[in-house]
Amino acid sequence: MEKIAIMTAGGDCAGLNSAIKSVVMTANTKGISVVGIMDGYIGFVEGNYLFLDSKVVRSIETKGGTMLGSSNKECPFHYYNKQTDKFEDRVDEGIEKLRQIGVEGMVIIGGDGTLDSARVIYEHGMPCVGIPKTIDNDMSASEPTIGFQTAIDAAVDAIRKLITTAYSHRRVMVVELMGRTSGYLTLYAGFASGADIILLPEQDYSLKAVCKKVTEIMNSGKRYVIIAISEAAKEKGGEETIAKIVKDSFEQKRYGGVSQILAAQIEQMTGYETRATILGHIQRGGEPTTSDIILGARLGNAACELLINDKPGYIVGIKGGEVVKMEFPKERVPRLLDIKNDDLCRTARDMGVSFGQEDEE
Ligand code: F6P
Repeated sequence: MEKIAIMTAGGDCAGLNSAIKSVVMTANTKGISVVGIMDGYIGFVEGNYLFLDSKVVRSIETKGGTMLGSSNKECPFHYYNKQTDKFEDRVDEGIEKLRQIGVEGMVIIGGDGTLDSARVIYEHGMPCVGIPKTIDNDMSASEPTIGFQTAIDAAVDAIRKLITTAYSHRRVMVVELMGRTSGYLTLYAGFASGADIILLPEQDYSLKAVCKKVTEIMNSGKRYVIIAISEAAKEKGGEETIAKIVKDSFEQKRYGGVSQILAAQIEQMTGYETRATILGHIQRGGEPTTSDIILGARLGNAACELLINDKPGYIVGIKGGEVVKMEFPKERVPRLLDIKNDDLCRTARDMGVSFGQEDEE
């Protein structure tokens, strides 16, 4: 192999630049050149590239986001055409453009949607290796995924700030976290910041149980209550709160707003002043933690090694602290929290954290 390409797609996160640098440096050391594909599958289809070498990637590992740009809408086999208002399959066209510039293999960094497209590209004849990243931590290929730890730290930092104002005003604070249908980010950030109540998408909550717990905590003399809620959490018998539908996106739903609904209900039912905060994209921003820098570098190196040693068709990840590989899954299934058996759920429950369940009423 003489030339490979690297691409980041899906929602950005911290640690991506470290993975890019690792791929570039590993490949260059072995005499292989690397081309960056700009803006995820947009650059793949349009043929928009950037030549990468050691000078270009110098010190990028300490920066957040991705130097290659990203997009979480485009899917190469279901690519939106504005002119016709229709979706088209552009996989072969993207592969052909890369072949024309001598690219023989691709490292694709992304979440489950991105890596599902990587599988399709691989099946169409372009050797590919995937690297899992997402603040949602919802991929079975890696525990954790790149970006998860930095997002936890960003959310914990924000919740700690909310605690000082909640304490001063004797308020209930409902904090909404990202994560789509997976509750990892809310559980880890909520627990680490001392949230009293954690509401997850994997288990619908009882409004009555939440209000009872709020009243109990405020009556106990504590001056504030922190509720960490996942953006896709919902009340038993209720619906998910959708903020918007992104029409030209493969995954069209964007969650948001459940914290505002819950805050109004709590204030009305308990009489305690309640405020909602949606942490939003703050959770994806900022510089990576050292653990995400190291994770990005390890997975970038492993992916590059597989590709250049002619072993494509895998996603690399971490399991039990070790780098492992698994074949591209045939379908995209988000990894959800196993609330009953998850060790941190049990720890939190045993330490008195409420999950808003009827048996706590
Ligand atoms: O998958 C990453 C993620 O940040 C989710 O947690 C969140 O629901 C979504 O992306 C937000 O997407 P957008 O950047 O399009 O608002």
